Amino acid sequence: MAYNNLLTNLEEGIYTISINRPDALNALSVAVLTELLEAIRQAKDDDEVKLIIITGHGEKAFAAGADIAEMRDLKALEAREYSLFGQGVYKEIENIDKPTIAAINGYALGGGCELIMACDIRIASEKAKLALPEVGLGIIPGWGGMHRLPRLIGKGQSKFYVFTGEMMTAAEAHNMGLVDKVVPADELIEYTKKIAKTILSKAPISIKVAKAVIDKGMNMDPETGIDYLAEAFATIFSTEDYREGLTAFLEKRKADFKNK
Ligand code: CAA
Repeated sequence: MAYNNLLTNLEEGIYTISINRPDALNALSVAVLTELLEAIRQAKDDDEVKLIIITGHGEKAFAAGADIAEMRDLKALEAREYSLFGQGVYKEIENIDKPTIAAINGYALGGGCELIMACDIRIASEKAKLALPEVGLGIIPGWGGMHRLPRLIGKGQSKFYVFTGEMMTAAEAHNMGLVDKVVPADELIEYTKKIAKTILSKAPISIKVAKAVIDKGMNMDPETGIDYLAEAFATIFSTEDYREGLTAFLEKRKADFKNK
């Protein structure tokens, strides 16, 4: 499917979505978010899609945030809808039962920074810059970042970066846990695809279940979370792939997982 603000590519099960709005540093207008939602839903329903990479087209920006021009004249109730819409898109990204990787090629600001937080894994170019600058605009981050950021980097650091709007380098974001890996700019996509292929070489059901256990477990009390883990562990033993994985190890060969 062709989009106005996204470039998409499916290769070897890896669906790459590149935000492509060069005149506004890939700022996330409602039109961009609507297309992103459509692309994610399509990816969810497409059995050929095994993993999703979200990146920004061009060298300068992943996404420079929500479209500031679109927000200026919002009334309070419209702002509420606007916030809920963005949150909804990011929830669908977070909840999709396929792995998602943000490949952060440049500025990831405001809503762009919130978008990477909704992905499972974040890989950044060493040139990437990240920030939540909203308080300098007289607003607050509205698409879920203030909920997800403390879970990634803790409450104190979250307040530091939300209150100051200070720009983080990729290395700083990595040290705090907002970014999982930093690579040279010209290796970003190649490295991200390498990681994608590594994930795709593992047992697909194990990845799916691990994602659910980590995500849901974060929102459970420790007792319930550990119980949920035991149930999930037991579920894996009803698959064919678990037997194949363990047998392949014992037979000193590569496992041939069937997603069954
Ligand atoms: N919305 C709309 N347009 C944007 C934009 C945004 N978030 N970010 C950049 N642009 C536009 C600029 O207006 C400019 O357009 P023109 O060429 O038509 O003037 C073009 O993109 C290039 O930007 P700059 O000239 O500013 O480029 P620069 O290299 O000098 O600066 C920058 C780069 C530091 C990223 C700067 O563009 C900037 O600060 N952008 C805004 C970042 C921001 O505040 N993001 C948060 C938005 S609020 C939000 O996201 C709320 C939420 O949680 C929902």
